[in-house]
Amino acid sequence: MRHFLADDDLSPAEQAEVLDLAAWLKDNPYAKQLLAPGKTIAVIFDKTSLRTRFSFATAAAHLGGTAITVGSAETQMGKGESIEDTAKVLSRYAEAIVWRTFAHSNLEAMAAAADVPVINSLSDDLHPCQILADLQTIKEHFDDLTSIKAVYLGDGSNNMANSYMLGFATAGLDITIIAPKDFQPEQKFVDRAINRAAQTGARVEVTDDITAAAGAHVVITDTWVSMGQEQDGKDRNTPFRPYQVDANLMDKASADAIFLHCLPAYRGNEVAAEVIDGPQSVVFDEAENRLHAQKALMVWLLEHKAKAAQ
Ligand code: CP
Ligand code: NVA
Repeated sequence: MRHFLADDDLSPAEQAEVLDLAAWLKDNPYAKQLLAPGKTIAVIFDKTSLRTRFSFATAAAHLGGTAITVGSAETQMGKGESIEDTAKVLSRYAEAIVWRTFAHSNLEAMAAAADVPVINSLSDDLHPCQILADLQTIKEHFDDLTSIKAVYLGDGSNNMANSYMLGFATAGLDITIIAPKDFQPEQKFVDRAINRAAQTGARVEVTDDITAAAGAHVVITDTWVSMGQEQDGKDRNTPFRPYQVDANLMDKASADAIFLHCLPAYRGNEVAAEVIDGPQSVVFDEAENRLHAQKALMVWLLEHKAKAAQ
């Protein structure tokens, strides 16, 4: 049985299947009634959410079922029930378990004990569902992903930067992480992405040089302060300020460049209002595509599980 904990859990061919299905489901939102009549998915949050919460619940409804969404503090995990027992119990009710948590190892423990697919809806390390939506959005603007150069500016040490490297390398896009030296990705994620890129022809680069954004087709940023880092006492404003995506930066990118941000955004910090609210921004298409991409992912995982059981 397959889980989706990391971007490179899907092979390049499998990721392409999910993205094709996502595009089809955008035009045919109710065509796959895999959760009818009235099956459920379990959706658990250890961190706050708008998009993930509503997009998974809406996707489950479109598939003919229901998402049961809880904060982990409302479950017995908040009082110390083990992840393994939680996984075994939820597997008796739900068709899939979706979890937003802190340590990535929590998800690995859940997947190891679950009898249903486990989906990572954000960990401290990775946010792979977001990358599927971002790739769907990029495909809506550019036919051939393998000819695209993407740049991500800002916090290169966070979950989004890691997932962009792994997910974009899987799709064959060139991805450059442009981040201050103290906020660059851990080498283990860079190595994993380069390994995947060797199969797809993608290029993976990490630099602190902002001029690397020149000619980019896709310009991306994310918050400077990820969930869980609010009280860590680090000064992020000083190192990240030169990496803000503003009109000047967009002028250096390709004339047909699009701007992506997973949201929530902090205008005046990682992105200037003139960019995120300007004509090159596709952030609300990107947010919408969470619904289609995650629905496609659930269909793909559930159909895969059903086939494997035959
Ligand atoms: N982009 C994203 O995951 O948004 P939420 O935190 O609102 O779910
Ligand atoms: N890097 C951000 C992404 C939010 C969707 C965070 O982890 O808070």
